[in-house]
Amino acid sequence: MTTVITYGTFDLIHEGHINILRRAKDLGDHLIVGLSTEHFNTVKNKKAYHTYDQRKIVLQAIRYVDEIIPENTWEQKVDDIRRHDADIFVMGDDWEGKFDYLKKYCKVIYLPRTRGISTTKIKEDLFRHDR
Ligand code: CTP
Repeated sequence: MTTVITYGTFDLIHEGHINILRRAKDLGDHLIVGLSTEHFNTVKNKKAYHTYDQRKIVLQAIRYVDEIIPENTWEQKVDDIRRHDADIFVMGDDWEGKFDYLKKYCKVIYLPRTRGISTTKIKEDLFRHDR
């Protein structure tokens, strides 16, 4: 069995999220998502609209996602990969090169981001009055 692991906040779910989750799952048999906790979002200077539990409910309903674990720190990835025996680590290519140090532990793949959409863009568009 090939286990794939990826990480993110997955706040306002959009096609970019679905695309990366589908492509990640296509690389193996079991997809684990490390979902950023509220604490970790604060560390990342990110403010999610939905709570961790709400984001988890949505992610659990996505057919490509097999397992969700909390992402609390930058440093936990090596531990997660070992504990879950992950074969492939996947991130969007906005993170290109940033996780190359994990190549000691598993395959590292950066998938192309879906253009023109992000949670940040959705929030900005909804706040604009001239849309
Ligand atoms: N992602 C993607 N294509 C997009 C947006 C996100 O492939 N258009 C990927 C990211 O590269 C990451 C995962 O989805 O691997 C989770 O990203 P996340 O930061 O939760 O989503 P964003 O929409 O980028 O959120 P934000 O705007 O708050 O950064």
